[in-house]
Amino acid sequence: MTKTEQLYEGKAKKVWATDDENIVIVDYKDDATAFNGIKKGTIVGKGVVNNKMSNYLMQILEKHGIPTHFVEELSDRETAVKKVKIVPLEVIIRNRAAGSICKRLGLEEGMDFVCPSIEFSYKDDELGDPLINGYHAVSCGFATKEDVETIKEMAFKVNDVLKEYFASIGVELIDFKLEFGKTADGTIVLADEISPDTCRFWDIKTHEKLDKDRFRRDLGGVEEAYEEMMKRVGLN
Ligand code: C5P
Repeated sequence: MTKTEQLYEGKAKKVWATDDENIVIVDYKDDATAFNGIKKGTIVGKGVVNNKMSNYLMQILEKHGIPTHFVEELSDRETAVKKVKIVPLEVIIRNRAAGSICKRLGLEEGMDFVCPSIEFSYKDDELGDPLINGYHAVSCGFATKEDVETIKEMAFKVNDVLKEYFASIGVELIDFKLEFGKTADGTIVLADEISPDTCRFWDIKTHEKLDKDRFRRDLGGVEEAYEEMMKRVGLN
């Protein structure tokens, strides 16, 4: 499979077309941004961690019957994935209070929720990815009613599988963001990435943060946290 033209360059990755019209290649960068691009920096080695970890987790999810965009890992930073049309929603599942929900609802960080919750943001950098509900997604034409139902069901299943997997390696899955896409035949698949950039991971015993919050909040030890997650997942 060979790269042809570059289709897109985002904050954390580049996407290339290939000689196969149904496949694109994702190329993970070390560039890090937070707060909708206001804070910028580099996390050395992040591209490799996110590429490999995301691929590993997508394969676990496939084994549990969740369709994903994953096709083949090509190198430390590059992966072939199915070409999809991204549903313009950021889908966030929360198991414990952290980040924006603490600010929004005045909750203390770490509050354990009675049950997991789901929320949607409309993917739009200029608007700052505003929070919307499933009805907005349907009425604005971002997704059909059926797609919203499928996405909700898949997202909670991803949570069940990943929560159990991470607990087995001493990590608590606090919250995470997913993106979904539609393949040429109309199937909804899990797309984008699942990594320390898109999840909050806490050590199950000490509650030490092992994710991008170390960068967002200038806690230090950012690269070390990403490497620690790689070790726990058994990838180095
Ligand atoms: O910022 P907030 O608390 O809403 O983030 C919830 C989860 O979604 C976190 O795990 C964060 O890493 C992830 N997220 C993301 N990309 C965004 C917003 C949030 O990966 N644009």
